[in-house]
Amino acid sequence: MAPYTALVPVEIKLHALDNARSPWHRNPMENDMHSFTPDPTRTTDLRRALGQFGTGVALITAQTDEGPLGMTANSFSSVSLDPPLVLWSAARTSKRHDAFASAAAFCIHVLSAEQVDVAMHFAAQGHDFSPYPVDSGPNGAPTLHGCLATFHCDTYAVHRAGDHSIILGQITAAATQPEERDGLLFKRGGFGRFMPNPDADQ
Ligand SMILES: Cc1cc2nc3c(=O)[nH]c(=O)nc-3n(C[C@H](O)[C@H](O)[C@H](O)COP(=O)(O)O)c2cc1C
Repeated sequence: MAPYTALVPVEIKLHALDNARSPWHRNPMENDMHSFTPDPTRTTDLRRALGQFGTGVALITAQTDEGPLGMTANSFSSVSLDPPLVLWSAARTSKRHDAFASAAAFCIHVLSAEQVDVAMHFAAQGHDFSPYPVDSGPNGAPTLHGCLATFHCDTYAVHRAGDHSIILGQITAAATQPEERDGLLFKRGGFGRFMPNPDADQ
């Protein structure tokens, strides 16, 4: 008898360890999740999962050797208040990557919900600014009118990160619209706008 009683706790322990390794096998809610290990054959699944995270949409511009350049980006994020740093990431496969990665300065435009055309235009190409009048910003980057906010940045650092470069900028000048307007949002591959949740008391 003694050897069997000694075995029981060992079995329980192994079972517990198994569950610890695979938590989604324990929780019936999480069982509904479609889980996968990201690898080169699962990029569509990874894109779809990342697309669950809604973002704003920005237009990044820079004055380059080939003239003014723009690119639609949703990877924009704030990083630090002191010093004021922001980042965005540029795909290394993009024809525009090298020009942005080597630019000394750039401007981030936060697009409004009415600026889907701007987002589509600068997703398709980067050199044609003819539909949108621009000023030269304080650090030389082309600056569009009518955006929700603009952040004029000096390039602070560029870090290679897989198939993208993380481009960090130090904000040297910023501007915002005086009135509240909806921003352009991007989620699951589509554009939209913010809808307040009346159940969430603030
Ligand atoms: C909503 C949206 C967000 C995007 N965000 C990024 C981004 O953060 N980084 C990036 O490199 N490209 C991003 N793109 C793709 C570029 O805007 C552009 O389509 C791409 O650079 C085209 O390739 P090319 O530069 O070789 O012409 C985004 C496109 C859209 C429509």
